[in-house]
This record gives sequence, structure tokens and C-alpha cells, in this order.
Amino acid sequence: MKPDSIPPDTVAGLRRALLDHYDRSARDLPWRRDTDPYRVLVSEFMLQQTRVETVIRYYEPWLERFPTVTVLAEAEEDQVLKAWEGLGYYRRARNLHRAAQVVAERHGGTIPSDPDELRSLPGVGEYTTGAVASIAFGVPAPAVDGNVRRVFARLFDVATPTTVWLREIAGRLVSSDRAGDWTQALMELGATVCTPKSPTCDACPVTAWCASLAAGTVDERPARAKKREVPTRVIPLAVLCRSGEVLLQRRSAGGLLAGLWAFPESGDVTPADVATRLGLQPEGEPHSLPVVEHRFTHFHARYVPTVLEVRGDVSVAVPEGSRWVRPGGLGDTALPVAQRKVFDSWLNSME
Ligand code: ADE
Repeated sequence: MKPDSIPPDTVAGLRRALLDHYDRSARDLPWRRDTDPYRVLVSEFMLQQTRVETVIRYYEPWLERFPTVTVLAEAEEDQVLKAWEGLGYYRRARNLHRAAQVVAERHGGTIPSDPDELRSLPGVGEYTTGAVASIAFGVPAPAVDGNVRRVFARLFDVATPTTVWLREIAGRLVSSDRAGDWTQALMELGATVCTPKSPTCDACPVTAWCASLAAGTVDERPARAKKREVPTRVIPLAVLCRSGEVLLQRRSAGGLLAGLWAFPESGDVTPADVATRLGLQPEGEPHSLPVVEHRFTHFHARYVPTVLEVRGDVSVAVPEGSRWVRPGGLGDTALPVAQRKVFDSWLNSME
């Protein structure tokens, strides 16, 4: 259906039914307790690609650590990555940090309400612009995430909705007087009722308008994309220890997990070679730690860690830095989830 051919009474009916449902049954989520723009911005960054249940554990601690946009702007990147540790997709943390710096420098510490200005902040795409503009400022800007896409595909019985169509539909339907609630009501419907598998149409407030329910195509809407096969990459790690400490290196600025700390990757050489190249003297026999698997967006990593005792200190310049860490001494050293698992199994192996 063409967005501009939706009759006005359909638009009004849908809005009323969905907003009433939201008023009755919205989950009490920590970021819904006020509409402070910084709090909304943080929640929307965290919620990109991450489940509500996971974000709940990170949200309040983050706000305690960085209570305002200015505090965040002035923080060190190490502290920012540490507070994000375990949430994944770390680029979001660096972008949020940079966005806070832009807000501090160019907007006097006030998050802009204008969608074009929001859109120009690092890490703020089309979706986050609409979500923040509507939830924090009541601007009737459309916000289409995966949940909303599914709701519209079903409501209008469209197998493969295009981005342009989704934006137009979202723009046509967004409530002008309750824009933020409308944005969240749509996401809420997608997350709790109009779910990917086994949607509970019995509990849905908008079945009267649902074209796919009438056509019996709910389960096929939207059409499922073919699952991409991702390659597996075996990544040997050198766990170099010296008197109860272990060597970590900072990952380079541009690539995967940039700025986080990790065990040196040994590629196709031995851990002893890695040690020697760093100016360390290998000692004793290497031994293995359990393999750790981790799924990234584009590949599946199989980390194969080997522990080797060494002597000496790193005497070769390591571009991004290296540190010896003792058990319990990670401090601000932020480790990605898989590296943390290797670190923990190294700890266990010492007991
Ligand atoms: N996903 C993205 N933004 C959300 C929000 N504000 N509430 C619940 N889920 C969301």
C-alpha cells in the first residue's frame, strides 16, 4: 500500500489503539523513566544490536560513571571502553564518546533537537536520529528498527519492504502529539507481541488493520533473508606470563576491537617466537588453555591460547602499547568478551 493512500481514519485508529496498548502494558525500562536527551542517547546507542535484557545491566552503571554528556566528553577512552566492556560492537562506545565531545564543543553541552544536527553526530544514523528526536524532544521523526520493520511488513502484508517505503510509512503514521511514545509503542509491539516467531496475534491491539493476518501470511512476513554463511578463522594466542603476570597488548586504532586489550596473536609462528620478537626470553614448556569461540558479524573466531612462561621485559616498541597484568589487576584495561574468557581460564590454570 502506498503510504499516502492510507485513509486518515485508519491512521487515527491505528495510533489510538497502539498508544492505548502502550499506556496499559509498556515494560518499565530504566530509560523510560525520563526523557533527558543524554539518557535517551545513551540508551539508543546501547540498544543498537543489543537485547533489552543485556542493556539493562549496563545502563545505570554507565550513567553513574558518566552522568552527563560533559563528563563523558572529558573521560579517557580507556574508561569509556571499560564501562562498555562486554556489550560488544565497541565502535558504538567510541562513537558515543566522540558524539559527546562534538556536543560539548559545538553545541555547548546541549544535545541538539534538530534531526539534521543529530544526524551529523558520530554513530547517529537514520534510526537513532528518529528515536532520539522523537523520544527526547517529541519531534515527529520516523524511527525504523528491525522490530518496526517487521510490524509494518505484517500490517501491510509486504514481503520485502524497501527502506524508502518503510521511511514513508513510518513518517505517515508517526503521531505528532505523542511522537516519543509512538516510537516506543511500535518497538514494544515488535518486541513483545509481533515477535519474529509465534507472534501472539490474540494479544495484538491492531489486528483490525493487519493485512497479513487477514491474508494468513503473518509467518511469511517479512520474507526471511537467506542466512549468510560466515567463515571460521582460527586465531592462535600467545599467553605470555612472567612471575604471575600476563602480557596484554592494545589493539590498533583502525581495526576490529580497536583500542581494547588482548593477548598477542601468534599467527603462524610459535608463542616462543612471539616472545623473542618482543625481546622476552622464553622459559619452560608451553601448555594449552581451552579454545574459546566467538561469533563476530562477518566471521567466527576460534581462539586457541597457549601459555608460555617468559623472562625479561618488552624491549621492542609495541605501537599501541603493552602491559603486564596480574590477577585482579585489570583496572581500566578493557578486554573483549572472548579475551576475558581466555584471561579467566589463565587465572584458573594458575590455581
Ligand atoms: N530498542 C531500541 N530502542 C528501544 C527503546 N527505547 N525501548 C525498547 N527497545 C528499544
